[in-house]
Amino acid sequence: MNAIKKITVKAPGKLMVMGEHAVVYGYPCIVTAIHKHITAEVEIIEAHIDQYETPDVTDQRFIRSALKLFKDTYQIDTCLKLTTKSELGTYGLGSSAATVVATIKALAVLFGKNLSDKEVFDLSYRVVLTIQGKASGFDIAASMYGGTIYFNGKTKEVIPLTRDTLPLLAAFSGVKADTVSLIEMIKQKRENYKKGVDAIFENIEKLVIEAKRAMEEKDWKRVGMLMNYNQNYLEDLGVSTDRLNTLISAAIKGGAWGAKLSGAGGGDCMIALVPMEKKNDVVEAIKEVGGEILDIASSVNGVSRVTMF
Ligand code: PMV
Repeated sequence: MNAIKKITVKAPGKLMVMGEHAVVYGYPCIVTAIHKHITAEVEIIEAHIDQYETPDVTDQRFIRSALKLFKDTYQIDTCLKLTTKSELGTYGLGSSAATVVATIKALAVLFGKNLSDKEVFDLSYRVVLTIQGKASGFDIAASMYGGTIYFNGKTKEVIPLTRDTLPLLAAFSGVKADTVSLIEMIKQKRENYKKGVDAIFENIEKLVIEAKRAMEEKDWKRVGMLMNYNQNYLEDLGVSTDRLNTLISAAIKGGAWGAKLSGAGGGDCMIALVPMEKKNDVVEAIKEVGGEILDIASSVNGVSRVTMF
């Protein structure tokens, strides 16, 4: 019998800072965890089937697949009730990855499996791959480790970059992105013109490596400039939209050091790196063109246990 009956674990969402798409092909990216979370509660119940209560998570495939993989891996047949609460909304802030990480971590503790971070990462990554087909795992890493990290798309190794809150602003474009279709679109493009797409990825990698250095030196102005260059390559890849471009231009005109889309593109969020004294101007400039400013800050916290009974 398990001594613990119920556990609650929370995991943060993320914002991709630089390196999206290239990271799927083994190049590095920079991602930051945010101070908004998914909370997963896992409870042992007397029942014949597992129960799910996920009012803010409409796509239950991730949590169901996480439970199935964990049960299959450790040959568990106990019935469970899984409940989630989300502060992440539907802005593309990594709710699926955070749900998977929180669920796997909660199950590991509940069933006394002394899993290393790497093992939690590997199980979570398998879940996301099962559902999405192709993914880098950057969002899982952010959710696991917290902070602003340099994520190696090939080895999945993580290097913490800074524990400072980034001078970051995020705005929603008003359109939900379809990450799976955008990954597929890039895959097609690469099949048609491998040399050209790989050249873009290599240039993005150079920017990410340079931004890593600039971040370690807290040279935000330089990071902003590198973000702008990264945005140009994302436009070349065809994943930005008029809407995102309008928000990005507004942020730059308002005085941001740099701005770009964040994530797969096609919609979701844009981010801007902004000097403190320009924050209000940038917020106003983004609002003026209809952008929805999100209340988001980078955070040092990764997945963590909240309660246990
Ligand atoms: O759309 P998001 O926020 O899940 O970001 C996707 C980022 C990609 O690089 C396109 C995919 C990935 O798994 O890294």
